[in-house]
Amino acid sequence: MTGMPPDLPEKAETDPQAPVRPRREFIRNAALFTGTVALLGGGLEALTRRPGAAAEAAPGEPLAQARRPLGPYDTSEAVTPYAQATTYNNFYEFGTGKDDPARLAGSLKPRPWTVLIDGEVKKPVRVDIDTLQSWFPLEDRIYRMRCVEGWSMVMPWLGFPLAALLRRIEPNSKAKYVQFTALHDPKQFPGQRGNVLDWPYVEGLRLDEALHPLTFMAVGLQGRVLPGQNGAPLRLVVPWKYGFKSIKSVVRITLTQKQPRTTWALAAPDEYGFYANVNPAVPHPRWSQATERRIGELRRRPTLPFNGYAEQVAHLYKGMDLRRFF
Ligand code: MTE
Repeated sequence: MTGMPPDLPEKAETDPQAPVRPRREFIRNAALFTGTVALLGGGLEALTRRPGAAAEAAPGEPLAQARRPLGPYDTSEAVTPYAQATTYNNFYEFGTGKDDPARLAGSLKPRPWTVLIDGEVKKPVRVDIDTLQSWFPLEDRIYRMRCVEGWSMVMPWLGFPLAALLRRIEPNSKAKYVQFTALHDPKQFPGQRGNVLDWPYVEGLRLDEALHPLTFMAVGLQGRVLPGQNGAPLRLVVPWKYGFKSIKSVVRITLTQKQPRTTWALAAPDEYGFYANVNPAVPHPRWSQATERRIGELRRRPTLPFNGYAEQVAHLYKGMDLRRFF
């Protein structure tokens, strides 16, 4: 990211030599996982190692071997190695460095964890994360993830569609948007002891975006319980939008009448908007969005409109001037 500090190096994010944490650290991170594979239930079995997928595993780590056909929402592109997906992260609650989240994620306690679902709904609820997870059959989705900084990954998530949760709590007729709030606890998040962003991190979607079948709540990654650095125990995943929309460590989901305020649009309104759909034709003031570097690869590749999901989502924005809605 970022709007601030203003000179966070693009080079570091796009440099093919950008460091990947050593295996030692990867194994240490594995020890931080809070649950077991059993927690993830049936969805885990469905997780696949695809031909060409370079997933890494340490001895004794849970790893799903079963193969299943690609689902309608899956990309067949090679999955980003787990060691990279869990050590090159943006999670400012831990710090602004790419390696801060993996280094410091041990201070985040993802259990016990309560999620409040409220606002314009017929059935508001405060629910424990394990109960919440048990409401839905867990599914896996292999999605591209494109950061506005110009890098991308392919992530196999495990979780449930946000639409399933919304159907359960029943938005009322006034509900037009969904606001998401991340945990605010400087004891668990060292980055919140400073004011690099306004805490807590908040994000939002229009209700029809939130109900789209691609919009996902993840509780696992690549066959493992979601690690702290990737947003344990619950994060949003919206694959056609820049990565900053996919808020981590969610504690509250509120249905609203008005468009919610969102962290990056508050921090740098000239640089970030509410919609933030991936759009190679609209440059960010500091980064062209025309190409991207897939983490683990050297060459840059063209960025696709809506991150390659145009067929599924472009209709949501019919009649809107997409240049105005960065
Ligand atoms: N969520 C919170 N709570 N705090 C953050 O700093 N960073 C965002 C997003 N979600 C962020 C967040 C950004 S900029 C990106 S690119 C993605 O998380 C990165 O997700 P990943 O680290 O799992 O790849």
